[in-house]
Amino acid sequence: MKAVLLVGGAGTRLRPLTLTTPKPLLPIANQAFLERQLSWLASHGIDEVILSLGYLPDVFVEHFPGGSYGGIRLRYAVEDHPLGTAGGIRFASEGITERFVVCNGDVLTALDLTAMIEFHDAHGAAATIYLSRVVDPSAFGVVPTRADGEVIGFIEKPPPGAAPTDWINAGTYVLEPSVLDRIPPRLEVSIERETFPRMVETRGALYAYASDTYWLDIGTCETYLEAHADALAGRLGQTPAPGAREVSPGLWTQGDVSIDSTARVEGTCLVGMGAGVGSGCVLADAVLGPRVEIGEGARIERSVLLEGARIGGASVVTDSVVGPDARLGSHVVVTDQTIVGASADLPPHTRISGGRVRPGPTAEAYRPIEVGKG
Ligand code: GDD
Ligand code: MG
Repeated sequence: MKAVLLVGGAGTRLRPLTLTTPKPLLPIANQAFLERQLSWLASHGIDEVILSLGYLPDVFVEHFPGGSYGGIRLRYAVEDHPLGTAGGIRFASEGITERFVVCNGDVLTALDLTAMIEFHDAHGAAATIYLSRVVDPSAFGVVPTRADGEVIGFIEKPPPGAAPTDWINAGTYVLEPSVLDRIPPRLEVSIERETFPRMVETRGALYAYASDTYWLDIGTCETYLEAHADALAGRLGQTPAPGAREVSPGLWTQGDVSIDSTARVEGTCLVGMGAGVGSGCVLADAVLGPRVEIGEGARIERSVLLEGARIGGASVVTDSVVGPDARLGSHVVVTDQTIVGASADLPPHTRISGGRVRPGPTAEAYRPIEVGKG
């Protein structure tokens, strides 16, 4: 069975990380999100995936040099301008003649996709939408249904307090090829704002499969950190990352790492291959990517340091993300959902709270970055 993955968004809410790495390729606990998603799809019988994209396409192609992953054959449908979610599906689905699956490329879920496909077949719908329940539906597509699951409305991002239900579009669909006929070719079309709201008018066309299983959209700094906390808590699998071993209570490592005997681990931490942790450091619910280096006396708490990041002595990183190969001098303090871009270079004693630092070692590092609201 085939799946189309929508991975063409610019990931503005995760800038500056997404200026250099497209959102689906950002690691979640040291494994690219997309690899986790492909493994999940493979476990439900998907054997071919078409990546629908346009933003930073080469990074995807380089990430999967063999053109496959875990038994799934990968194809690329590269848009020369963004076609939106429905336009992207239409463009990527040329030649698809059987029912297929569509996924947003930023949703971590334990959904039983096999059961959802069975539900779709049993109801004979043209499209079935996976629904999840959230506390604040206003950031999502809100989907009221009848008791049997038939969709009676689709309201994308209603104003706060206006949502008729807290069940939302969880970003996985089963579609019959007939849905493609409803999408004009080569135009920018939104499935959430145009295609689904119109399908509601056709009785029996659109059903929803509601499930309370694990679900998270990783598209903001807050939820990106939350995904890591969930991985450490064992909510994404038995180990936080492939090949990770728990070498002492709460400390998971991948391959050879160097952790000074005076360093302390609090809560649960994951330390990637080749990483080094200096004397007197404290790691508390932290994820360190491969080759990360932590200078002596530094404290890393509820934070994610991506591959090759280097943290100077006595620095503090709390509730933040440090991008690949970024360097923090000594005595730097980075807190409150700061995101430091790839290869940025912060001088000693820099303090940043809730900021976004541009990629690259540039004096412009502190110019504000435009962060989308989605
Ligand atoms: N190919 C392509 N082309 N993909 C796109 C485009 C485009 O022009 N625009 C966005 N995408 C991809 C993104 O990469 C992402 O994987 C997916 O479409 C959804 O875009 P987001 O920007 O993440 O949307 P959202 O999170 O605000 O809302 C969507 O997801 C929610 C669930 O997480 C909507 O589908 C909501 O209805 C839904 O509730
Ligand atoms: Mg999203």
